[in-house]
Amino acid sequence: MDFRSYIRVIPDFPQPGIRFKDITTLLKDGAAYKAAIDELAQFARELQADVIAGPEARGFVVGAPLAYTLGLGFVPIRKSGKLPYKSIKADYSLEYGKDALAVHVDAIQPGQRVLIADDLLATGGTITTTINLVEQLGGKVVGAAFFIELTYLDGRQKLGDIPVKSLVQY
Ligand code: PRP
Repeated sequence: MDFRSYIRVIPDFPQPGIRFKDITTLLKDGAAYKAAIDELAQFARELQADVIAGPEARGFVVGAPLAYTLGLGFVPIRKSGKLPYKSIKADYSLEYGKDALAVHVDAIQPGQRVLIADDLLATGGTITTTINLVEQLGGKVVGAAFFIELTYLDGRQKLGDIPVKSLVQY
């Protein structure tokens, strides 16, 4: 499927110079959304992932249906201050702005094979922070799956040997 044709590009959002990749136009199309999740699910199967983790908020929109499709659990990596139980936290920088991500200390068991899912790989800040948190809990990150990769930001280089799959590249 030509996933690119389902993604809407918005110039100068949320600030001048950023060409925002809007996935809502893909999500609202049932066939396109299902095909995107199914393609990432095949990647997760090949890597023998046994749990899916995704960063808030758009990582939930990719990671949760992926986990459901595979019959696996889903671990939400949340923005700081949202989780109710004992958590670990890591600060990170975004393409535009800063934040912190957190995960419950018992969300991942040592040795679990974790596939990380998100809508977009840009600078790689979100995903490397997510990897850091998963690894602190003893998880093994076996891959990272995205709808979109902004190749000109070189985020993939930050992931080292971790296999990366993206459906559309800009
Ligand atoms: C966006 C996107 C990715 C991240 C990619 O999330 O959904 O998670 O940025 O950028 P990076 O590779 O440079 O880290 P955002 O933090 O805007 O949060 P949202 O999903 O809650 O909108």
